[in-house]
Amino acid sequence: MRHIKGRLQKAADEKVAAYTSSLPFDWRLYRHDIAGSIAHARMLSKHGIISESDAVIIVQGLESIQQEIEQGKFEFRAELEDIHMAVEARLIEKIGEVGGKLHTARSRNDQIALDLRLYIREAIAQTIGNTRELQHALVNLAEANMDVVVPGYTHLQPAQPVLLAHHLLAYFEMLQRDVDRLECCRMRADVMPLGSGALAGVTYNVDREFLARELGFDRISQNSLDAVSDRDFVLECEADASIAMMHLSRLAEEIILWSSAEFGFIELDEAYATGSSIMPQKKNPDVAELVRGKTGRVYGHLMAFLTTMKALPLAYNRDLQEDKEGLFATVDTLLASLAICAGMVSTLKVNAESAAKAAGRGYILATDLADYLVRKGEAFRNAHEIVGRLISYAVKKEKSLAELSLAEYSNFSPLFGEDVYSITIESSLAARDTVGGTAPKRVAQAVAAAKKALGQVN
Ligand code: ARG
Repeated sequence: MRHIKGRLQKAADEKVAAYTSSLPFDWRLYRHDIAGSIAHARMLSKHGIISESDAVIIVQGLESIQQEIEQGKFEFRAELEDIHMAVEARLIEKIGEVGGKLHTARSRNDQIALDLRLYIREAIAQTIGNTRELQHALVNLAEANMDVVVPGYTHLQPAQPVLLAHHLLAYFEMLQRDVDRLECCRMRADVMPLGSGALAGVTYNVDREFLARELGFDRISQNSLDAVSDRDFVLECEADASIAMMHLSRLAEEIILWSSAEFGFIELDEAYATGSSIMPQKKNPDVAELVRGKTGRVYGHLMAFLTTMKALPLAYNRDLQEDKEGLFATVDTLLASLAICAGMVSTLKVNAESAAKAAGRGYILATDLADYLVRKGEAFRNAHEIVGRLISYAVKKEKSLAELSLAEYSNFSPLFGEDVYSITIESSLAARDTVGGTAPKRVAQAVAAAKKALGQVN
């Protein structure tokens, strides 16, 4: 490539060219790269840096290159270092010398900073869209099962009964925060870096505000050194994606547990389950397991690029090229995992009976019993102690709370009366009538609020 060799007389060794080329992965930025170049050419001509007629030829050339790429007619030549060189080389091939004017007042350093920011804005919009789909699926499942009770767990031990809808809406909340985080990241990525040149700014009278407007950016960068070497927005996107994947891994884990014979609260649709090559009876939750498993990789991309960025001196260093593969893989994985989870959630069947049965086991109403004594005048700590002793008695006798006689209750506290038998799963749920609690009335409000939130943003 004569026009990038500059002082170098020798072509790069073949192995070196292959080692340093980013084209095998950054070709994906072609749309962003071309959009940036078109805006740049227009800006150059608007300010008399190149002629209007040159700009028209350049823009047409770039548009036809985009078509070639989209029609699969573009040859990504391995010896070209990156997408920027590939597009520029083809432009010069197509329109001749005038194509060489495009790179006036620009460097690949500010060009890649721009392309990545354009990419991230789009990736975030898609990710938010897929997150909304999953939220819809969760809310729909909640709404279709408003009277289903499941055991609520702490330490994976049955703790207190909760509505299935309440449990599902917990994930809705997590995903709301994921969207918030991504929106913050999008805001910080919304900065136009062109005009920073290689590192110090450019010697031409460039119109950076015009470029920002053309490309739909909110702001322009304020320091050229920072603009070409900042990848915070990449790290932030990967961190946000890691947290989102962590949420999906928890959902996936519960789907795995809940679809097991031991729990049996849900059944996966066959389209979201796999068979075993050896055990004919199996219906395996491999899809959910892979969501859980892929979380590790997404964390890995974040750690890898944090490590790459550590202690890098200003300004651009080639190390920064390592940003792309991890970022693309992160976005691809998160997008696919969100879509898969949405499909899995919207097709699974709820087994209300097994859930209710499980919710009735394990002295799950013990807290309600203690609260009962408190309402009769006992101090909570004493009530806790009394119920603890009562439960260990019931365990020994192999009786449920409902099977204990009033005489047996009375051995533990004189405050117990006939009304102790009115403590049921239903009363337990209804009693948790706080904002954010599992009382059916509150959960119905939460479902309505969730639907409204989705309606407003979609
Ligand atoms: N392929 C490079 C990257 O992804 C583009 C910028 C190259 N700049 C340079 N001076 N070599 O970071």
